[in-house]
Amino acid sequence: MTTSLPRQDRIRRALELLRNETTDKFDDVVPFTAEEFTDPVLAQQERDHIFGRVPSIVAHGSELAKPFDFLTVQMPRNNVIVVRQRDGGIKAFVNLCRHRGAMLEDSEKGRCRFFSCQYHRWSYDPDGSLRMITRDNTFGEVDRKERGLIELPCEERHGFIWLVDNAHATIDVADWLGPDMDAILAGYRLDELHCVRSAGFDEPTNWKIMQDAFLDGYHIQYAHPNTAGKIIHTNVMAFEDFGRHCRFIAPRKSIDRWLEEDPGEENLDRYVTETHFLLPNSTLLRQPDHFQLLTFRPDISDPAKSRMEQRLIVPPVERSGMTEEHWNKVWDKNWQILLAVLHNEDFPLLRNSQRGMASADAGDMLLGRNETANQVFRRETKKLLAEGTVES
Ligand code: FES
Ligand SMILES: [Fe+2]
Repeated sequence: MTTSLPRQDRIRRALELLRNETTDKFDDVVPFTAEEFTDPVLAQQERDHIFGRVPSIVAHGSELAKPFDFLTVQMPRNNVIVVRQRDGGIKAFVNLCRHRGAMLEDSEKGRCRFFSCQYHRWSYDPDGSLRMITRDNTFGEVDRKERGLIELPCEERHGFIWLVDNAHATIDVADWLGPDMDAILAGYRLDELHCVRSAGFDEPTNWKIMQDAFLDGYHIQYAHPNTAGKIIHTNVMAFEDFGRHCRFIAPRKSIDRWLEEDPGEENLDRYVTETHFLLPNSTLLRQPDHFQLLTFRPDISDPAKSRMEQRLIVPPVERSGMTEEHWNKVWDKNWQILLAVLHNEDFPLLRNSQRGMASADAGDMLLGRNETANQVFRRETKKLLAEGTVES
């Protein structure tokens, strides 16, 4: 596998693959079974040994721009509140009142001066400490320091907010990314961009079926003949495996003008999409003028359900050279196209895959050598599960 060539060289390699009508390939064709997408025991192990052990992205920092901005997220193991602190830092807590367990905050996002439980009105500061016990002259002795919200390990890095879904874990995003992917993300300066649109979709489909579809350069012309298939080449990927995370460049059809002609020193950025797979559950797409982040989370109990979130991350209006109205219009148009492809083309197909996997006699299935990023996703999730099972 070729690693760490300069970007223009990697794009030229993708062009060469296109000229030769081929793609980078993985070592072997790999069989897999339907149970990987339906087994409740495996689903529990994934929640604990993957999401309970390693960092995954829950938001872009610009979604919590000001102190006391918060958002809530259903993680695979915990209901979570993420809050921007007074000093600009980030903290995450289990979204649960320490009195009798009512859910503390049910709005998706907002700004708070404190969190107040609707049941008996105990309240908590944004740093999680217990602020007030109502009628405390009757409640009895409580060590308040011990009764703050339960904190989860959380870190902001490369513009994203990352979380390990386990109060007993620690977090080190740089270490998790490894030197290659950490440097790649640092180079994108994603912290200077703005999340202009975001949405979540609850789907009756296993999270790995969902994640797989958004690492797949093989289905494009078949599943998206009139949309993405018109823009991007199918099954041509210049691929790099970083051992845990990976990325690949896929040429856009506009690159065809260079099929015969030598591009020389021409900057070819605008002719490709670069896909990054960030283990365990994110696809970061680098488009010529913006980024798109797709994340996939298992349901808290049902292996046949998951939530996908999509974010459009773009240069802020001040740097765009556009009026705010125009900027909004441009990204809204882009967003509507993305939503239409998801709802009309990907989701129906993937729901049906999940239905198919429920067949008692599904037999085994295959992941091809051309399905490189899917191979990495499967290899690495299996590795995490194996490591987790040894540890526990
Ligand atoms: S459960 Fe929250 S105050 Fe009682
Ligand atoms: Fe698709």
